[in-house]
Amino acid sequence: MTLGRPHLHLATVGSTNDRARELALAGAPHGTTITASEQTAGRGRRGRTWVAPAGQALLLSVVLRDAPKPLTIRVAVAAARACGERAQIKWPNDILIDGRKVAGILCEQHPGEDWTIAGIGVNVAVDIDEFDPLLRESAGTLGRIPTEIPAFGAEFLAELEQTLTDPQDAISKAWSSRDALLGEAVEWQAGSGKAAGINANGHLLIDTPDAGRLALDSGEVNLVRRV
Ligand code: BTN
Repeated sequence: MTLGRPHLHLATVGSTNDRARELALAGAPHGTTITASEQTAGRGRRGRTWVAPAGQALLLSVVLRDAPKPLTIRVAVAAARACGERAQIKWPNDILIDGRKVAGILCEQHPGEDWTIAGIGVNVAVDIDEFDPLLRESAGTLGRIPTEIPAFGAEFLAELEQTLTDPQDAISKAWSSRDALLGEAVEWQAGSGKAAGINANGHLLIDTPDAGRLALDSGEVNLVRRV
């Protein structure tokens, strides 16, 4: 296995993605992995923060060189597999169990560079009661114990090693079988429709009554799921 070596574990860090980026810029090899027990400035997509009680979550970033695109899709399939049979993927980067978010993914790339940072936060052993009330409504946990976090991280990296080289059709099939939005009514800033899977670019396909099938880019769309 090439992922997970070298591995730097930190008790506390601002963001494992930021530390991984520094190492990538300094020439760290493919597979270099940063984990932390606690982040003081964990980041999510769209400028959101990512919070997790110290010592209860997998906080991991891995440096990938020449990674296939779109990467988030492959990372999400690997994360869902590690999270178990019941884990579903909510486009573009959430892993849900019973409709609750147990993991989030943040892949970051810089134009002109050959590296990408794949960051993942998984509520492996999180006590949901430690979250603030707003987060408590939507967050989930794998319900494991803190000592299981390193093994969970290794399992995730093994799954990622596989999905990085899987053919696109295998990834698409795996996504479909875990797609939390498939057939669901969804709406975004500019419209609404029914989710119909993803395409090879990782865009969300939506069947709309007026405009037919649209492909939405995660960078442009803020999805609201109607329940
Ligand atoms: C999201 O759901 O918006 C993505 C959350 C990603 C969180 C992980 S935790 C490890 C890595 N370091 C960060 O600062 N963010 C990612």
